[in-house]
Amino acid sequence: MWCSRVSLRRLQHIAVAPLNLFRNATAGAVQRNMSSMSKVYVTRQIPPVGLKILQESGQVQYELWDSDDVPVPRKELLQKVKGVDALLCVLTEKIDAELLDAAGPNLKVVSTMSVGFDHLSLEELKKRGIRVGYTPEVLTDAVAELTVALLLATSRRLIEATHEAKTGGWGTWRTLWLCGHELANSTVGIFGLGRIGVAIAERLAPFKVKKFIYTDVEPRPELASLINAEYVSMDELAKRSDFLAACCALTPETKEICNKDLFSKMKKTSIFINTSRGGVVHQEDLYDALSTGQIAGAGLDVTVPEPLPTDHPLFTLKNCVILPHIASASYSTRNEMSALAANNLLLGLRAKPMIKELKL
Ligand SMILES: NC(=O)c1ccc[n+]([C@@H]2O[C@H](COP(=O)([O-])OP(=O)(O)OC[C@H]3O[C@@H](n4cnc5c(N)ncnc54)[C@H](O)[C@@H]3O)[C@@H](O)[C@H]2O)c1
Repeated sequence: MWCSRVSLRRLQHIAVAPLNLFRNATAGAVQRNMSSMSKVYVTRQIPPVGLKILQESGQVQYELWDSDDVPVPRKELLQKVKGVDALLCVLTEKIDAELLDAAGPNLKVVSTMSVGFDHLSLEELKKRGIRVGYTPEVLTDAVAELTVALLLATSRRLIEATHEAKTGGWGTWRTLWLCGHELANSTVGIFGLGRIGVAIAERLAPFKVKKFIYTDVEPRPELASLINAEYVSMDELAKRSDFLAACCALTPETKEICNKDLFSKMKKTSIFINTSRGGVVHQEDLYDALSTGQIAGAGLDVTVPEPLPTDHPLFTLKNCVILPHIASASYSTRNEMSALAANNLLLGLRAKPMIKELKL
């Protein structure tokens, strides 16, 4: 069943296509025969700019799950992908063997509106010769900016502080009340020095950080030279960092790699930040580290599961700041992500190089 939860008022704001559910994307001058057009399923009401690109291409007819508030139910998705040539998805959809089997042999392109690709079974996609588009770079600035905001909110205890101010905890000026940890003269550790890791360090440098250190699968001298960062082992990263930011991809190797072992080596005054994927953290171990004072605080934009249930123990901790996966959530970035995802998909269908294609 198609979702009708999007209110008419909202649709008037965001709709660029008519409300017929199977949309004939031939708004341009060239009106092609429907039968010659590729069939596309879009798993989310993505920002209008992306839909407009599909619509005006004259190349595809697309059907979409007409909501941004609830993900398409799996059963519905498995039905809807049958026979499609391409799929435009977001990170909530698992693109695995079951789904690819349901789609069948016509499926040539999967375009995800995300840089993370842990929701895609790459082996299965490769096996079937399906090309994959994704959206790196356009979101790097937004994610780095949010990571800095989260780091400062956590280390300078902003959420606790506004709560105290609002609820009467604000008494006289006190010498040690709500003290936190500052970036000046600190060592910042980056776990996974990719695009976002570098962008975070670039933004933190003006706060007078003393030293950047990082670890990765191997040294990345070109990127490291941009921020004058030293390559260290995971052990050293844990021991030396005053602030440790996880910026790596979620893979079988990084799953729950931020665990008891890591937290037990960190300084009691250190702050842990994760804007990568919730799966890189062992959450029970993080809870223990935070509640026993093993580390000073944690800021998380990503958790397992998402949404994190409101009765989750991590929500009870004052030294844990949790955001609902909003790192790339700026209007300009989300628009660019949807445009890039749409263009990747169209190029893939034309058997042309995509703007951003994942090498499988
Ligand atoms: N919170 C959000 O909304 C949000 C938004 C965008 C991206 N992300 C996450 O951020 C991640 C990084 O994005 P990016 O554009 O910087 O990607 P990137 O590929 O440029 O960087 C990822 C880095 O992780 C490293 N890495 C991979 N496996 C590792 C391992 N076993 N040990 C150490 N390092 C390892 C890679 O070598 C690479 O340097 C994405 O994979 C995504 O999951 C989250």
